Amino acid sequence: MAVDAADRLLLRELSDAISSDPSLTETTLTVIGDTHGALTLGALAECGFTNVKVHQDALSGERALLNNAAELAAAIPTGATFEHFALSEELVQGARVVVLRLPRALEQLDQWAALIAAYASSDVLVLAGGRIKHMTLSMNEVLARYFDTVEASLAEQKSRVLRVRGPKEEIARKALGNWPRSEHHADIDLTVCAQGGAFAGTSIDIGTYDLLAVLDRVSGQQGMRIIDFGCGTGVLAAQIAKLRPSATVIASDQSAAAVESAKATIETNALSDRVSVVRDDGLSAQPDASADLILFNPPFHSGAAVHAGTSLRLFAEAGRVLKPGGELWVVANRHLSYKPALRNLVGETREVRRTPKFTVTRSIKA
Ligand SMILES: C[S@@+](CC[C@H](N)C(=O)[O-])C[C@H]1O[C@@H](n2cnc3c(N)ncnc32)[C@H](O)[C@@H]1O
Repeated sequence: MAVDAADRLLLRELSDAISSDPSLTETTLTVIGDTHGALTLGALAECGFTNVKVHQDALSGERALLNNAAELAAAIPTGATFEHFALSEELVQGARVVVLRLPRALEQLDQWAALIAAYASSDVLVLAGGRIKHMTLSMNEVLARYFDTVEASLAEQKSRVLRVRGPKEEIARKALGNWPRSEHHADIDLTVCAQGGAFAGTSIDIGTYDLLAVLDRVSGQQGMRIIDFGCGTGVLAAQIAKLRPSATVIASDQSAAAVESAKATIETNALSDRVSVVRDDGLSAQPDASADLILFNPPFHSGAAVHAGTSLRLFAEAGRVLKPGGELWVVANRHLSYKPALRNLVGETREVRRTPKFTVTRSIKA
């Protein structure tokens, strides 16, 4: 859903803040975690802001915002603009109002909150909202690490906004120095680096372990081109690069946090000469029939929603990008039974490994 009750409540809270202090609209608004652009475009079209700095973790979210902005151009006052920023000091520098959509991962919220508290104005108002079913008291605790007051709005249409004030700048700057976090995994001799929003953090997902367990069985011709699709922190890319020293490896993910994490993992493990990391939605940057091998631990969430359709679109992408005879290795929860879809979208599919929770399949591009 491109806009929901939590977005509407956030925009209403923003309007209330402006009623109390109309000068806020002369400042640059920061928006973090906008899913499809409702917050950014709402602030420009309805709240009187003329400048918005926005950070969206997912590249598909950035594209949705750009498309929605083009569609709604008539509703946006002339001269009112937004610009995308990485999760950086520049995004929040001197901000007096920040609107954010609460992320699923507490670690991601921790990093966002520390960034705001470290660099926004000392009188900043942070409006952090979400659907109540996705909110926990731990979110208040995380925000309270970096701010003096965290006050909850009344619930409305199953949504709520946390009004947050009083940044603890010193604590926040110190905490920011801990990102990306890293952890050495002696069993696979790999140091995994992770930003707050990266899947599995510095740990290694049990599904990923199942794919790692059969990695020595993937095809292995000289000079092959390998893609770690939806690379997260880059564990699969790093391990296959070690196993196939003559290969070129591309680690690809649409999440900004994943890409930053994978870059750090690859650099820390001295693999930068063989692995490149790219931010891409699907494999849109990869030519048809260009890869010999794709490793894939697919997403089963789209934002907070569980959505099998996401993976099917991505399997079709993998099928397009594989060379004839190329291999797609997928690890997935057993109950998802992707085999028929993989057969259709890629080619002949066999189960290579089965554990109580996961199966690993190999599909060969026809
Ligand atoms: C289950 S995680 C696996 C991460 C990593 N490969 C691992 O095994 O730890 C799935 C990954 O797919 C990424 N992803 C989701 N949708 C995507 C899309 N449309 N294009 C590219 N990557 C996507 C997510 O950001 C996430 O990092």
